[in-house]
Amino acid sequence: MERLYTKDTQAIFWNNNKTAIQRMLDYDYTIKREKPSVAAIVAPTSGNKFEKFFYGPDEVMIPLFKTTADAKAAQPQADVLLNFASFRSAYDVTMEALEIGGFSSMMITAEGIPERLARGMNQTAREKGVTVIGPATVGAITPGAFKVANIGGTITNIVNSKLHRAGSCGLVTRSGGLFNELSNIISINADGIAEGVAIGGDRFVGSVFIDNLLRMEKNPDVKYMILLGEVGGTEEYKVIEAIKNGQITKPVIAWCIGTIAKHYDSGVQFGHAGASANAESETAEYKNNAMKEAGIHVPDSFNDLPAMINKVFTDMNIAEIPEPDMNTVPASRRSKEFICTISDDRGEEAHYCGYPISSVATPETGFTIGDVMSILWFKKRYPRWAVDFLETVLKTVADHGPAVSGAHNAKVTARAGKDVISSLIAGLLTIGPRFGGAIDGAAEHFKHANDNDMTPKEFLAHMKKSGIPIPGIGHRIKSLKNPDLRVTGLMKYAEENFPSTPLLDYARTVEELTTSKKENLILNVDGTIGILMVDMWRALDYTDEEIDVFIEAGALNAFFILGRSIGFIGHILDEKRLAMPMYRHPMDDILYDVKRAEEL
Ligand code: ACO
Ligand code: LMR
Repeated sequence: MERLYTKDTQAIFWNNNKTAIQRMLDYDYTIKREKPSVAAIVAPTSGNKFEKFFYGPDEVMIPLFKTTADAKAAQPQADVLLNFASFRSAYDVTMEALEIGGFSSMMITAEGIPERLARGMNQTAREKGVTVIGPATVGAITPGAFKVANIGGTITNIVNSKLHRAGSCGLVTRSGGLFNELSNIISINADGIAEGVAIGGDRFVGSVFIDNLLRMEKNPDVKYMILLGEVGGTEEYKVIEAIKNGQITKPVIAWCIGTIAKHYDSGVQFGHAGASANAESETAEYKNNAMKEAGIHVPDSFNDLPAMINKVFTDMNIAEIPEPDMNTVPASRRSKEFICTISDDRGEEAHYCGYPISSVATPETGFTIGDVMSILWFKKRYPRWAVDFLETVLKTVADHGPAVSGAHNAKVTARAGKDVISSLIAGLLTIGPRFGGAIDGAAEHFKHANDNDMTPKEFLAHMKKSGIPIPGIGHRIKSLKNPDLRVTGLMKYAEENFPSTPLLDYARTVEELTTSKKENLILNVDGTIGILMVDMWRALDYTDEEIDVFIEAGALNAFFILGRSIGFIGHILDEKRLAMPMYRHPMDDILYDVKRAEEL
């Protein structure tokens, strides 16, 4: 790996840390990235499916997942894990992601992961060739390409420190605070940085100075390197070694902070867990001298560091970097209340999921009503056999005569003088668990039984225990002797056109058992539709989770609602055409069983 990040790098962000993610997206917008740098968020306890973030003046939706595995499966191109889990779970999150694979680097922000665990974690990552940044870090940045969370601070600070575009320095520090300080110094005294990493303050961090410097040595964007070490540890000696054996050839400027420690009688522990000298060779002064001897540019004090950077940079005669065009993040932005993912009416012509209406409306476009449904309801173009099935369902349920619950209601309402909308709604309101609205229930229960390998007998016992009639079974007038030809027609269509019908095959074994008890307990039209829709979606490669979402949303009953509206409207128009008077139900058709007042 030559470069830690590029302009195409995308991350999976573990923990819905909205402020940090928004900072990343503001950075993306500023530097005109094409895709947001965060492709997915892992939020184990959230019930939400996405989180909205500003992208410049607009908003984007970033998908939320409960597990890293789900996020990675949905966004396989995202090869950076930004692990913002607490110190209690950061280790497990990293280890799980290493197990899942497909990550080139991981950044761990938590401070205080037990050192024994951290060592094991870093070792596993090393074996798998994954660069770990941290623990206890603000991360890393490739200016003009990708920035981790909060590194570099606010957008204003980032632009002031020239972190919005690549310069020529490779910067490695331990501390995040000093990283920001140094990038500012480099922007004033040189042309900014090409890649920068704050490796983290813990005693055992994943990638150490040498790992990052060796990568930067190979990175053609990096022309020289700055190392800001600190008191404690011996990592700086590996850099000296690499210079001596020719692995590092680019100029290196370095300074170890903590030289003040010598003015104290006993060893000093600075803020970082690793910032304490256990031997003379771990003191800042000793390391600074050793680095100077090895030919590294080491100033006499931290105060002289800016001048030294300026000198090394100027001597290299690096060509001036042109300032790129940037976007400006608006000062005030308003979050949108509604989201629409199916149609857009803003341009010259409205479109359905990208299809202008004129491209689907007329017969020569080849689009039928089923195509339009598949686009607007399921946001996909279905193959012809599936589109034809959707239409077959609509036509099959369009009407079933005037006596059924819904048509009766619509007719009574129309005869009470109400308009088409009111009468239609009166009819639609009858659609439910007994009439026309058992399609979702049938899909749900039969799928559940089949998924759990229940025998028909076990399924019946299970439904009996739950105390509800099996949705999709039974009919008032249809039976084995008087078969429902709509059901026969739908099954025939499926047999001839579906790749396979496993759930229908299962449902028919259930029907055998129910009809053996009572001959009207047939698989009814609702049941057949629900079950065949599941078979259709499975054949269209939808996942079980996606199918469950459709069922929970009530998408299956919607087929009856839409289809039967055709019939209801027909009945309403029929009433209007016939100018039928108000309907009053005959009193002799009602059993009056009302107590007298004195009986109460
Ligand atoms: N599962 C188990 N037992 C049933 C079922 C069922 N789905 N449907 C009826 N039964 C049993 C009843 O428990 C009752 O048993 P019992 O005689 O031992 O008491 C007997 O059959 C008669 O029950 P009713 O409710 O009177 O049956 P009816 O034939 O009048 O009802 C109905 C028809 C409402 C459709 C009923 O079968 C049912 O509720 N089915 C489930 C819902 C459903 O699928 N509705 C869609 C129908 S198709 C359409 O509307 C387009
Ligand atoms: C329908 O489609 O409306 C029917 O199956 C219901 C019924 O009672 O006939």
